[in-house]
Amino acid sequence: MTATFKAWLVDKQADASGNASQTATLSDLTDADLGPGDVDLDVHWSSINYKDGLALMGRPGVVRSWPLIAGIDAVGTVTSSDTDRFATGDEVLLNGAGLGENRHGGLAERARVVSASLVKVPEALGGKRAAAIGTAGFTAMLSVLAVERHGVTPNDGPVLVTGAAGGVGSIAIAVLARLGFEVVASTGRVDSQGDYLRRLGANSVIDRVELSDAGKPLQSQKYAAVIDAVGSTTLVNALAQLNYGGIATACGLAQGADLPGTVMPFILRGVTLAGINSVEAPLALREEAWARLATDLDAGLLDELTTEIALAHARNAAEQILRGELHGRTVVNVRG
Ligand SMILES: NC(=O)c1ccc[n+]([C@@H]2O[C@H](COP(=O)([O-])OP(=O)(O)OC[C@H]3O[C@@H](n4cnc5c(N)ncnc54)[C@H](OP(=O)(O)O)[C@@H]3O)[C@@H](O)[C@H]2O)c1
Repeated sequence: MTATFKAWLVDKQADASGNASQTATLSDLTDADLGPGDVDLDVHWSSINYKDGLALMGRPGVVRSWPLIAGIDAVGTVTSSDTDRFATGDEVLLNGAGLGENRHGGLAERARVVSASLVKVPEALGGKRAAAIGTAGFTAMLSVLAVERHGVTPNDGPVLVTGAAGGVGSIAIAVLARLGFEVVASTGRVDSQGDYLRRLGANSVIDRVELSDAGKPLQSQKYAAVIDAVGSTTLVNALAQLNYGGIATACGLAQGADLPGTVMPFILRGVTLAGINSVEAPLALREEAWARLATDLDAGLLDELTTEIALAHARNAAEQILRGELHGRTVVNVRG
């Protein structure tokens, strides 16, 4: 008998009027259902990112071919490999690279992946912590690397982190604090998450309403750098509050995909806006970011910001992340 495995499968349906909708179902599949790829994995861990929330709750914009296994992160053990870079038994991780968007993803007990973006799990982390970091933490580290490459050091002034209690924000705060930066955390949950954010290393916590309404094109200079996961007027205000020559990284759109600002911070303060794309990051950058995550993220803090759930509970967590109810990172024990 062919072995089956569990997977969250997203499919698309049309009603009698032709209106399309998507639903995710915990399904039994076989290896014959997996797409092309050169490395097969027993997946042990995945995670819930904002994109996974959208995919599992049937929202458009993430899954682009149907039916598709959801999950933009996969961490597992190689069971067969057509490339010399990996051997059976290697513990590996994959973030983005089309997983859960146009290739079968990591919310499943089995995966067949393309090795071009595959990275060995750093020994210092192990599989569960690597998945707890996941795309959100990887993106946080890509943002920190962009800030460092701009030449910003802890002596230059505070760094603002928006969407602070979310996945990207939480890990960005923990890494920046460990590197010695003064961190200002912007959150909509000052009362419930303020202590949590200070434990991660935030020196101060501000209410996100201070940034969410339209403001002046140039405001008091406060920050050497901004790590933004929110977009819209929040990012515009953050740009307006950057010190001369500062940098803001933009990875997300939790408030909105718009950028309703002016060029004034660019032409009068020489600030830089750096885009962060984890999905298509080249292999060398992936390896650099993961090596840094293994050394520059406190494992105890990571454990503190991580919640573990079983595969069957992934859709409940998806609903919660879209409602803004989760904090930190949610790791999925795929075989739990
Ligand atoms: N470019 C990339 O490669 C990449 C990679 C990963 C993630 N992302 C994007 O980055 C964003 C964050 O991802 P995540 O996984 O960290 O999601 P998450 O855990 O849901 O965190 C998002 C945080 O944004 C804040 N937020 C939510 N709604 C908001 C609003 N209306 N106005 C202002 N702030 C709001 C909340 O923080 P508080 O409760 O603290 O206010 C929330 O926790 C998402 O848009 C995601 O798609 C992009």
